[in-house]
Amino acid sequence: MAAQPSLLQDSLAQIAADIDHEFDALLTLPGDTRDRLYAAMRYAAIGGGKRLRPLLVTATAALFHVDRAVALRVGTAVEAIHVYSLVHDDLPCMDDDDMRRGKPTVHRAFDDATAVLAGDSLHALAFEILASPQTHGDPFVRGELVSTLALASGPEGMAGGQMMDIEAEKSTFDIQTVMRLQALKTGALIAASVEMGAILGHIPAEGRTHLRGYARDIGLAFQIADDIMDVEGDPQLAGKALQKDAAANKGTFVSLMGLERAKQQADMLVQQANDHLSSYSAEADLLRAIANYITERDR
Ligand code: IPE
Ligand code: IPE
Ligand code: MG
Ligand code: MG
Ligand code: MG
Repeated sequence: MAAQPSLLQDSLAQIAADIDHEFDALLTLPGDTRDRLYAAMRYAAIGGGKRLRPLLVTATAALFHVDRAVALRVGTAVEAIHVYSLVHDDLPCMDDDDMRRGKPTVHRAFDDATAVLAGDSLHALAFEILASPQTHGDPFVRGELVSTLALASGPEGMAGGQMMDIEAEKSTFDIQTVMRLQALKTGALIAASVEMGAILGHIPAEGRTHLRGYARDIGLAFQIADDIMDVEGDPQLAGKALQKDAAANKGTFVSLMGLERAKQQADMLVQQANDHLSSYSAEADLLRAIANYITERDR
């Protein structure tokens, strides 16, 4: 276990640099009246965030010896969806937040309309990347990547979870419904990240059962950790406003179970996630370290 912290820290630093580089290359200002849109996309996508989803893609793909450059392109696509979801989540019509990743939100630094369009364009960019032969030479692999990310982003995934999240302010959800909400809102993109790593590894669906179990458990633990951070985190470290869920009267794991049981639940899920990796040896150590990081993080 002694090697774990540096394995994780090195991997987080490396993925952050690599994803910044990918977005920088993809988002060159055209030098015309669309420059403001590109500038907002760059502002949102470059220089911040934990890059957890791209790290899950590259760490899973590495299990199957996939070329890192290919996995990075796919990781950039899922991060583009994630960043778009944050830009829209922060809008006045949604969470109305002023800070994200330690700097003013896109609609604060630019304006609402530009933030909507930057989100729209990051969403499109994700599928442009996955559909490109530059990402993968096999059209069947590209098709599977596109449909996996599309399913995880739309009403069966992130957007559907965001809708439930808004409803959660108006009605009292039971624990099952909150779990479903979180599985869609946050779990779907996390699961898609692991799934796409396995797709790149040419692992057939029936061979992905353990990885899917791992992804489901860390996805749920991740959102529980976000809800715990909302209650007792440091906004300076988190880079965003906290204490918002209770103010909005939102049903979360913490509001339903209390802080202590929510923490136990998150720890139990991380343990369970690691159990799913028992058939792998040291090659899955990074995935194990990521699972542990999910409940230990402060941002
Ligand atoms: C925040 O996601 C929104 C949720 C889905 C809980 P992250 O915690 O991954 O945010 P960044 O990417 O590190 O900024
Ligand atoms: C947002 O959830 C999840 C998304 C799909 C963007 P939150 O609203 O809890 O995320 P934060 O706390 O603003 O990062
Ligand atoms: Mg929200
Ligand atoms: Mg929010
Ligand atoms: Mg939150």
